[in-house]
Amino acid sequence: MTEQPQREQWGSRLGFLMAAIGSAIGLGNIWRFPAVTYEHGGGAFLIPYLAALLTAGIPLLILEYTIGRKYRSSPPGALRKLARPAEAIGWWQVAICFVVATYYAAILAWALRYVGFSFDQAWGDDPEGFLNQEFLQLNETPGEISTFVPGVAWPLLLIWVLTLGVLLLGIRRGIERANIVTIPLLVGFFLVLVARALTLDGAALGLDALFTPDWGALADGSVWVAAYGQIFFSLSVGFGIMITYASYLHRKSDLSGSAMVAAFANSSFEILAGVAVFATLGFMAQAAGVGVADVSSSGVGLAFVAFPQIISEMPMGAFFGVLFFLSLAIAGFTSLISIVQVIIAAVQDRTGLGRTGAVLGVGGAVTVVSLLLFANDSGLYLLDVADHFINQYGIALAGLVLLITVSWGLRKLPALQRNADATSSIGLGVWWRICLGVLTPVVLTWMMVDSLRHELDENYEGYSTTFLLWGGWGVAGGALLAGLLLTLLSRRRPAGRETTVDSAHSVDHSVDHSVERND
Ligand code: ALA
Repeated sequence: MTEQPQREQWGSRLGFLMAAIGSAIGLGNIWRFPAVTYEHGGGAFLIPYLAALLTAGIPLLILEYTIGRKYRSSPPGALRKLARPAEAIGWWQVAICFVVATYYAAILAWALRYVGFSFDQAWGDDPEGFLNQEFLQLNETPGEISTFVPGVAWPLLLIWVLTLGVLLLGIRRGIERANIVTIPLLVGFFLVLVARALTLDGAALGLDALFTPDWGALADGSVWVAAYGQIFFSLSVGFGIMITYASYLHRKSDLSGSAMVAAFANSSFEILAGVAVFATLGFMAQAAGVGVADVSSSGVGLAFVAFPQIISEMPMGAFFGVLFFLSLAIAGFTSLISIVQVIIAAVQDRTGLGRTGAVLGVGGAVTVVSLLLFANDSGLYLLDVADHFINQYGIALAGLVLLITVSWGLRKLPALQRNADATSSIGLGVWWRICLGVLTPVVLTWMMVDSLRHELDENYEGYSTTFLLWGGWGVAGGALLAGLLLTLLSRRRPAGRETTVDSAHSVDHSVDHSVERND
């Protein structure tokens, strides 16, 4: 037997599942899903949504779990073991995670501040003015940075201290425990929120607006594109997160069963969030004597403008506000942990650095960048643009390139399927290969072309071309470039931790080794 250190492992299947669910449930569930559903056919949207979940979300989740568990490495190392050139996709995903982490943390910082603001409804009777002028001190010119905003900086620093604190404790003692504690808490908070929302006057009005099906929408291609986009972001596929988390799995763990549980838990939470948000919007619409369409909004506008207004109007508003913003912060916190872990694992695997060194090094860098870019008077604009471009031309594009490489370039799907089937409770069958090899690449390519067309037709949200060039295209292109640079750099250095992991690999006589030899 070798003396070399083994890779960390999850303490239990439940621990892994909680972490995977914690990563999936995030801002995407609470503020993105309800609005996307409402805007794309209401109840009818659930059909493309389910189709995207079954044909793309779950198959991709299983693929990422299989790659991570089989090669026991973060995305660059795992993909290099799959085929050397594929390493670049892994570093690209690491760079994407770096970008996403810097702004995702900023939103959590706002949510944390709004927990405090909810107690005395600090926004008064003008939530929008309060958000833009008082809290964010928003510059009138997007992209122009003239001042640092301490009111955002200190909660942001706190978010980073908490996140890095959990990551310092490691997989089992840190990430696993944090998720086992916070996910049930989050579900509890959310059930109370749903119960409160459903008992508000006008709740039925909101639910009617959300779920009344507009069957005509099904003929509209953009509705299907929206469903796939929602599933990718919400399930955390395409970032390399699930490859990383699965690399700490036991060799005999069930993959397809776990993917089903994680995916359905995520979607159930999403539906719950839709009910809570729209029942609440129904209350506001009824109180104002207008239609739900007039009060509905998404993202920042929903959480930090519409909700504060509702909180001010409803009985026991402070209680509702604290619960809502705490839920937002907790849901995002467990997702942020998973995003940063991708970068830490990649650095550890490549350099052989211990966890403390890697967490402090990576954490220090990501914290400084996050503070510099998002605790200033243009933070909201940059966040909006970077998020749009990195989602579309980072996460989704990297997912597409990964799929094409694995299924068409390397033709590895049959081997990976055998590997997953050897230990899984649900056999994958030919549908899995068709979904990953044909259906999803076709839909993703269509998504890419469609959104590029929109991008060229008109500037995203009317921002100036200069700002979009550096804040959008620059950020997404920069992530790709950074991925390529990191690949070149990594090839010039001898491998660190991965050598030990490979050795551990060769002495582990578990069931899927026989499978690997057959590949
Ligand atoms: N899956 C995470 C979310 O929904 C990133 O926010």
